[in-house]
This record gives sequence, C-alpha cells and structure tokens, in this order.
Amino acid sequence: MNDPRLSALLATVPGLRLKTGPADLEYYGRDWTRRWVPAPLAIALPADAGEVQAIVRWANRHRVAIAPSGGRTGLSGGAVAANGELVLSLERMNRVLAFDPIDRSLTVQPGIVLEAVHQAARGHGLLYPVDFAARGSCSIGGNIATNAGGIRVIRYGNTREWVAGLKVVTGAGELLDLNRGLVKNASGYDLRHLFIGSEGTLGIVVEATLRLTDPPPPSNVMLLALPSFEVLMQVFAVFRERLQLEAFEFFTDHALRHVLAHGGQAPFGESHPYYVVAEFAAGDDARQAAALAAFEHCLENGLVSDGVISQSDAQAAQLWRLREGITESLARHRPYKNDVSVRISAMPAFLAEAQSLLAREYPHFEVVWFGHIGDGNLHINVLKPDDVDEAGFVSQCAHVTDLLAATLQRHGGSISAEHGIGLVKKPWLDSARSAAEIEVMRGIRHVLDPLGIMNPGKLFDPPVPPGHA
Ligand code: MLT
Ligand code: ZN
Repeated sequence: MNDPRLSALLATVPGLRLKTGPADLEYYGRDWTRRWVPAPLAIALPADAGEVQAIVRWANRHRVAIAPSGGRTGLSGGAVAANGELVLSLERMNRVLAFDPIDRSLTVQPGIVLEAVHQAARGHGLLYPVDFAARGSCSIGGNIATNAGGIRVIRYGNTREWVAGLKVVTGAGELLDLNRGLVKNASGYDLRHLFIGSEGTLGIVVEATLRLTDPPPPSNVMLLALPSFEVLMQVFAVFRERLQLEAFEFFTDHALRHVLAHGGQAPFGESHPYYVVAEFAAGDDARQAAALAAFEHCLENGLVSDGVISQSDAQAAQLWRLREGITESLARHRPYKNDVSVRISAMPAFLAEAQSLLAREYPHFEVVWFGHIGDGNLHINVLKPDDVDEAGFVSQCAHVTDLLAATLQRHGGSISAEHGIGLVKKPWLDSARSAAEIEVMRGIRHVLDPLGIMNPGKLFDPPVPPGHA
C-alpha cells in the first residue's frame, strides 16, 4: 500500500476492503475477453452505497479512473482494467434487500448473481425472466450496465424491461434515486434508462428494484434439424405464428461438434447443417398438438429434416445444454466474437449477404454461427487457428469487421446486440450510431462524470481538446 493515493483512500473510507496482491490484480483486472493484460491500481470491495460514494469522490479528488466490476463475464472488455484503474468490485454487495408482494418487486444490491435473483423470485412464487448461460457467475449490476439480453428476450424483452428503480452513484459522486419502483412516472426524463446499458461510463448502480412476473407456463423443448440456412426464418415464422414461444435459438453443426467434443450428447443419428432449439408453452393437450402440427408442417414442406421433443425436464435441460454449452466449448480457440443484430424482417437478406461475405473473407478460418435468431441477434465466432499468432488474427478479424459493419449499416443493424461496445467494438460504434447521437452521448457522459473517471476508454473516447489534435 505504498501508493499515497491508496493511503488517502483508506484514510477517507476507514475499514474499506482493498486488495493489491498480484493474483488479485490479475483476477479482477480481466473479464471473459482475455485479450488485455490486466494492470489495475488496486481492487476496492465496498460494503455499501456510502462506501461507493466515498470512493467515487476520492477518485475525483485524485483523478483516479474507476473500472466498475461485477461477475466480469462480459465479452466486450467493458470490465477490463489495463491502465491503472481502481477496480470497484461490487461482489460484497450481493444481498436481497426487500421483496414486495403487492408491487411484485425485488430490491437487490448490484453484486447479486443472476441465478440468486432467479431463486429469490422463485421462492416467492414469481419469475425474474432475464436468463442466459452465464447466470451462475454474472451479476445483476453488470446485467443492468449492459442491458443484458439472452435466451428469453423473444418472450420477455431485455433487462431494461425489468428494472423498476435504480439507485446510482454518478461519476461526480452524487447519489440518485431513480424512478423508485413506480409503474407510471411522467415527470420528465427517465434517467434510469440512461444508466441501463451505459457500460459503467456514467456511474455505478448501488441498488436495483426489479419487476417480477407470473411463473412461466409449463413448457416443452424441441430440437429441430434444418437442411439449410435459407429455411431458418421460415421455420421461425411457422413456430411463432402457431405457438407461444419462450425461446428460439439456432446453431450450426460446427457449433454442435464443439459442444459434443466437450461431452454433450449427440441428438440425432446423423449430422445436419443447422439446428434450432425452440421452447414453447405446452401445458395442455391442445398446445402439445399445436407443437406437433407445427413440426409436421415444417417436415412436409422440407423446412426441417428431423426433430426431437423433450419427454422430461432432464431431457429438456440436455437439449438446452447443446446450445448453452457453445461459448464454453469455443473458449479454448480464443474466438473473435461478433454479436450483431438486424430487424427480424431484415434477417433473411442480411444473412445471405453476411454468409457470402464471411465465406469469402475467411476461407481458412473456422466460423461458428449461433444465436438468438428469434430476436434478430447472431453470434458469429471466428476461431483462431493454433498456428496463427494472436495479433495477426485479431487484425485480420478487425478488417473483416469493417466489412461486416458496413453490411450491417446497409441493413439498419447494430454491431453490438447484447454484449456491449466496451473496448472490443469501439472502433465500429459509428456504424450503429450517427455522429450526432455520439455527440449527445458524450455530452451526457460529461454532465454525469465531468472529470471522466468512470470506465474511461470504454464505449467511446473523449473528444480531443482543441489544439491537441
Ligand atoms: C451466448 O448467447 O451464448 C453468448 O452471448 C454468445 C457468445 O459467447 O458469443
Ligand atoms: Zn447471446
């Protein structure tokens, strides 16, 4: 603790838990992107909102950058601390503070893990519906900071829909109590929504009030084998029209092969080029019959070539593992991740163009496609061949991302659907947002964080001051 700034911090926040050991700096300084070398100043683990506020005020006085930190499961580098930042980890602030049965709301601290939120809601006979594979490690504060999406957006929307109130400490050190759980509040700008998806650049969430809903209806899971990419959106249209979809996810045979190599169970006797996992409400005979009819319609019209339907919860979970295991099974190959979206109606045209672009540009790399196709969101992971060096691989992928971003722009899409911009997608922010929009975002950031201490370098860089170009 030789740094005088840290001595001043401990004098300001007596009893603050601070870590400075090399293993801690390494552990807390990175997220799942793995591309940057962690180099934080120290790790602060505040116990409550008061300590967070005191840390932010200290950071303003000493001009120390803060990298807010939750479960660090992000894939865009939003939680990376590679430039002497103080990592402000919210992992000790992980409690459920209140449940209100009338409001059907759960008030939690930001460091609570998503799965614990699910359990707490279930314990009250209700549902917190945002869900994805990192549920056991990601925190609700990080979900809010990235407006996390996941596998049930098609039915329930993104995190934004479920945040009824937020307490935040702004970059200037003010504590704001935003919307206070109100369902209706027409009293001016809804600042809560500015913080949702702001990637830690405006302030730090210190408390969130989440909306809960009815538990989901009993559901069933179907795995479909598809003969071609071209039929994908047609199968989606049939299933969406006839069933109440809870999820509709797709992956390629490449993706499946990686999951199987990690211990997944082959679903069919032979392989097929594309697969869909569909979950749908199936509580009664009529719904079951509708699902089978949808499947048969697709089979008769050559839209699917095979299918299995779960007969038990265990089998449903097994089918889901084939989709949810993809990210983990690819990690060893240090994939370059793309997380793109277009409007669902634009998907067929975009898919055709993106496919031929990537086939042309990546003749020697393995490209793995999967994602939340029912939301218009594709994950395109490019795997690094073992004999290609990391820097060369990333720069080649960045060149292709230029072309992909231009294609997305033509189709009105976005270079980041749900992972955020962070460090990874910063060079392409201007393909998804106009110059005027980015200027407004800069202005907002300046108002809430005038000295630029909150997660600097993420999302966009500050403008170059006049005379410094
Ligand atoms: C997923 O949906 O599994 C992740 O968001 C995608 C990824 O790992 O690229
Ligand atoms: Zn995803």
